[in-house]
Amino acid sequence: MPIKTIIEPFRIKSVEPIRQTTREEREKILRAAGHNLFLVRSQDILIDLLTDSGTGAMSSEQWAAIMRGDESYAGSPSFERFRDSVQAIMGFKHVIPTHQGRAAERILFSVMCVAGDVVPNNTHFDTTRANCEFVGAQALDLPCAEGRQPSVAAPFKGNMDVQALERTIAEHGAKRIPLVMLTVTNNSGGGQPVSMANIRAVRAVCDKHRIPLYIDACRYAENAYFIKQREPGYEKATPREIAKEMFSYADGCTMSAKKDGMVNIGGFLCTNDDTLAQREKDLLILTEGFPTYGGLAGRDLDALAVGMNEALEEDYLHYRIVSTAYLGDHISEAGVPIVEPPGGHAIYIDARAFLPHIPPAQFPGVALAAELFLEGGIRSVEIGTLMFGKRDKDGTEHVGPMDLLRLAIPRRVYTQSHIDYCVEVILEVWRRRNEIRGLKLTHQAPYLRHFTARLEPFGT
Ligand code: F0G
Repeated sequence: MPIKTIIEPFRIKSVEPIRQTTREEREKILRAAGHNLFLVRSQDILIDLLTDSGTGAMSSEQWAAIMRGDESYAGSPSFERFRDSVQAIMGFKHVIPTHQGRAAERILFSVMCVAGDVVPNNTHFDTTRANCEFVGAQALDLPCAEGRQPSVAAPFKGNMDVQALERTIAEHGAKRIPLVMLTVTNNSGGGQPVSMANIRAVRAVCDKHRIPLYIDACRYAENAYFIKQREPGYEKATPREIAKEMFSYADGCTMSAKKDGMVNIGGFLCTNDDTLAQREKDLLILTEGFPTYGGLAGRDLDALAVGMNEALEEDYLHYRIVSTAYLGDHISEAGVPIVEPPGGHAIYIDARAFLPHIPPAQFPGVALAAELFLEGGIRSVEIGTLMFGKRDKDGTEHVGPMDLLRLAIPRRVYTQSHIDYCVEVILEVWRRRNEIRGLKLTHQAPYLRHFTARLEPFGT
C-alpha cells in the first residue's frame, strides 16, 4: 500500500518560540485592544493567521543567498539573478523591482491610467482598488456568478465573467479601458483559482479590442497548481510549465513577492512594452530607487531569486494546497460554514452563517475573531462589515456584502499539529456559538477603519 500521509516537505533548522497565555491574560489583552486584533502585540498571539503576506519562513538556500547579496547601488549581480529567475518563469521583457506589491500597482496605474478610466478585474484587492481610484480611475469587479456564492463549490470560482467584460467594454468604450487585470488566485473572492481557459478567453476579448492584459500575480504558483489538479489537459504539466503558459497571455504583471515569492519583503512590476517600461523606471527612481534595486536591498533580491523557484516545486505546492484544505475540510465536516471549496492560502469562515443571531451591523466577523483569540490565542482577520461597511453621520451602519473571517496560512511556518490545534479551537467556539454576543463600535477613523477601530460587547 502506498503511504498516504502528507508531510511537511522540510525539516526545521531554526525555531522561534511562541507564547502560551492564560484565558484571563487573553481577556485583559483583548479588552486593552478594544476587541481589535490588529491592536494586539504579536508576542501575545499563539498562532498568527492574520495574513500569509511576508510571514513565510525562508529556506536554508534563501538564507545562503542572503549572504551572496551585493549591495552596490547600480548594476548589482543580485539584480541580474533576480531578473533572470523572474524572466525564466514569466517571460516578460522588463522586470522592475519594487519594495512590495502596492508600489508596483501605484507605478502601473500612474503610468497607464487617467481620471475617468475604467479598470476591470475579477476582483481588485484593496490596495489595487485604492491605487486605481487614487489616479481617478474606476476599479470594477467582474467575478463569475459562482464566485459570489460562498457555499457553492466549483473548481474555478476565481474566474472573471467574460460576458460582463464584453458588456463593460461596449458600455465604456475600449479607449476608456487602459488595461484589464486578472488576480490569481482571487484573494478577495476567497483565494479561489482562475482557469487557463478563463485567462485565454479574457485575452481573446482584450485582443479584439486591443486592450493590454495584466496579471496580479501574488499567488500565481498556487493558481498553477490548482490548474494542474482541476483543469483537464494539465494533469501532466509541471507548475512551471503552467505558470509560463498563464503569463504568455499577459502583457505584464504586478507582484507582491511576500506571497509566492517566498520572501518577507519585495515585489516587482513586469511589462513587454519598451515605452511603458521607460516611464515606469523614471517614476521608480523618484520614489522607490534605482531600477536595479527599486527599494530593496541586494540581499532581498537574491532571496527572491531563490524563492521564486522554490514556490514552484511540486512537493511544496502539494503540501501547501493540501494543508490549507485540511483545515477547511476538518471544520466544514463538523458543520462550520466556510467558503467552498477551500482556497489556496486561506480558509474563509462565513461569520454571518456561523453567528446568525448577530446582525451584520453588530460585526459577527469581528466577534468571531475575538472568540478564536479568547479560546486559543489565534489571530484571524474580519473581511466584512468593519472592513467594507460604513457608518452615516446619523449612526446608521451600512453593512458589507458578506461577513467573512479569513484564516490565512503563512508559508512553511506551522506544522500539522498547529493546524489540529486550530481545528479544535474553532470547533469549541462552534459548540458554544449561541453564547457569543455582537459588538458595538466605540471609536472609528474616517478611512480604513478596521485597522484602528475599538469595539466592545453589547450589554457591557
Ligand atoms: N494583490 C493581492 C491579490 C494581494 O493579496 C495583496 C496583498 C496585494 C496585491 C498588495 O501587496 O501587500 O505587497 O503591497 N495582500 C495581503 C493580504 C496584504 O493580507 O492579503 P503588498
